[in-house]
Amino acid sequence: MKILSIESSCDETAAAVIEDGRRIISSVVATQVEEHKLYGGVVPEIASRRHCESICGVVRETLAQAQTELDGIDALAVTYAPGLIGALLVGVNFAKGLSLSTGLPLVPVHHLRGHIASNYLCFPELEPPFLCLVVSGGHSHIVEVKDYTDMRIIGRTRDDAAGEAFDKAARTMGMPYPGGIHLDIAAESGDENAFRFPIPKVSTSPYDFSFSGLKTAVINLIHNTRQKGGELPVNDLAASFRKAVVDSLTRNFFLAADDLGYDTLVLAGGVSANSLLRRRTLELSKAKGKKCYFPAKELCGDNGAMIGAQAYYEYLAGHTADARLNAAATRSIEMG
Ligand code: KG4
Ligand code: ZN
Repeated sequence: MKILSIESSCDETAAAVIEDGRRIISSVVATQVEEHKLYGGVVPEIASRRHCESICGVVRETLAQAQTELDGIDALAVTYAPGLIGALLVGVNFAKGLSLSTGLPLVPVHHLRGHIASNYLCFPELEPPFLCLVVSGGHSHIVEVKDYTDMRIIGRTRDDAAGEAFDKAARTMGMPYPGGIHLDIAAESGDENAFRFPIPKVSTSPYDFSFSGLKTAVINLIHNTRQKGGELPVNDLAASFRKAVVDSLTRNFFLAADDLGYDTLVLAGGVSANSLLRRRTLELSKAKGKKCYFPAKELCGDNGAMIGAQAYYEYLAGHTADARLNAAATRSIEMG
């Protein structure tokens, strides 16, 4: 079964043709990052406008690279939640129009379920059940993936998402948007023990995260150093901050895995590209005799392929939509 999938929830206009949820036939991502960089973050109105301009071309190019026309496609899929509402609406309305004009079934896909599914494209043997750490710019969840379309959140952030904390810390260190990757690169040549940041703990829930205190601690430290005219050891600061975030993520993730008896662990979302998070998860999994998976780096960020992968399983579960489909800025991954 070939699915043409569309993703426009934030600042990437993307589409893909995916076969049976597991094989990428073509995938095109048009990023707007250079434009948003000027403002230090995504400007929602600009994002919507650029999606409108790009979506036709991206879909055409995706079909061309797959060497197919729409009559070679069996279903359409689109990210409908969560994300920037004006951005989501572009993809949703485009997909609805395409579905109405072709008669192809339309599969709505939850963006975070898509991130999880990027692993299905990389690992043919991977099947639920497994425990997944979903870490992106807007979310930090520990999710029990009981089946392809049956998920339960057992841990979440109480304030900032991990990606958001990385981006804000990086911005204060003078790095361009989106800062997560720049902070990660700087951290590779820094001393992670140069600064000691507290590893946040949420007393009432052992699997929940909190990153805002950590973020404030690093921002205050940077401002104080600058006010005193001191030199900012950026690489050491990046390494120490990254260590605190990754320690917090892995501590809760492995605690949950042990408590609930999961031996298969999966990372997903933009932050799963983080070098230390990948290394540490691999090391801890090896030490505990667990299997771990994380997507190829090019599939960690937003893309259309992951939406097409999850759409296959949503379709098999009978989850299709008609012209009444609407976008939603917020919606739980549990609701699908
Ligand atoms: O999943 P994603 O592409 O978009 C959302 O759905 O939010 O995640 C983007 C987030 C950004 O905060 C970005 O800085 C972060 O993922 N990110 C990283 C790295 N690469 C991307 N954070 C830390 N280390 C990285 N290597
Ligand atoms: Zn995303």
